[in-house]
Amino acid sequence: MKKAALITGASSGIGAATAIEFAKNGYFVYLMGRNKERLQEVALKCRSGASIMSCDMTDTNALDKRLNEMLTTKIHRIEVVVNNAGIFDRHSTEEGTDDIWQKEFEVNLLGPVRITRAFFPYFKSQGGGQIVNVSSTLGLRPQGPTSAYSAVKAAMVNWTASLAMEGGPFKIRANCVCPGIVDTPIHGFHSLDTEKKNEALEGMKNLQPLGRIGTPDDIAKAIYFLGSDNSSWITGAILPVDGGINLL
Ligand SMILES: NC(=O)c1ccc[n+]([C@@H]2O[C@H](COP(=O)([O-])OP(=O)(O)OC[C@H]3O[C@@H](n4cnc5c(N)ncnc54)[C@H](OP(=O)(O)O)[C@@H]3O)[C@@H](O)[C@H]2O)c1
Repeated sequence: MKKAALITGASSGIGAATAIEFAKNGYFVYLMGRNKERLQEVALKCRSGASIMSCDMTDTNALDKRLNEMLTTKIHRIEVVVNNAGIFDRHSTEEGTDDIWQKEFEVNLLGPVRITRAFFPYFKSQGGGQIVNVSSTLGLRPQGPTSAYSAVKAAMVNWTASLAMEGGPFKIRANCVCPGIVDTPIHGFHSLDTEKKNEALEGMKNLQPLGRIGTPDDIAKAIYFLGSDNSSWITGAILPVDGGINLL
């Protein structure tokens, strides 16, 4: 059976780059996200085979259906789950409504928990598997008015440690990547016209010792490392991939 990876949020940014990275390395990829057209575009770039799992992760019925399809159709050996899908919100505690906090928790934490819970018995029965969670440097050290996002991403870091301990006896590894600022549609500057975008990038240059913000590929390579056998004795690791921004 061909080895496979599930990547959530594969229709854009870091998730799309991650899907392409796994595909380059011979994995069949399951691409999850809401936007079918963008998922199809990514699927075309995954030469070793891809299947589109379009669903909103907050719709538990749709998610269960998708997970069931994947876990019962045993065409591939799914070895990796990348919990990458996420939303970013810029509100202080004073401004953030219950709705904002609930949405952050629903998409950025409960979605990954539901997916991982479904995969645990599958990984146990096949003798192992890898979970890679995508948190954020804001989950390690909050900055600016992003309280709900930062709190949820911190929860993801902590949850990864629980998962690593729970999964260890079953050869299930769990690790977490914490990206710094990465050029994806999650940020407003991503879609500015070239001149304004270059100005914005110039302004952010000195925020990190390596002198530039990240690309989706920078993160995809780290996720691939933690999801593949290259990291076979690593579990519970929290890896900042951030050009050093967390040091300043
Ligand atoms: N870019 C950064 O600077 C940065 C920094 C730190 C951490 N991160 C984290 O990296 C991850 C990927 O972000 P990105 O920068 O690549 O952002 P992005 O380009 O906006 O991609 C976000 C992805 O999440 C999916 N998604 C959002 N809500 C969803 C839902 N309800 N159901 C299913 N899929 C959903 C989107 O799919 P659809 O649009 O198709 O629904 C999209 O594929 C996120 O967890 C983010 O918090 C990013």
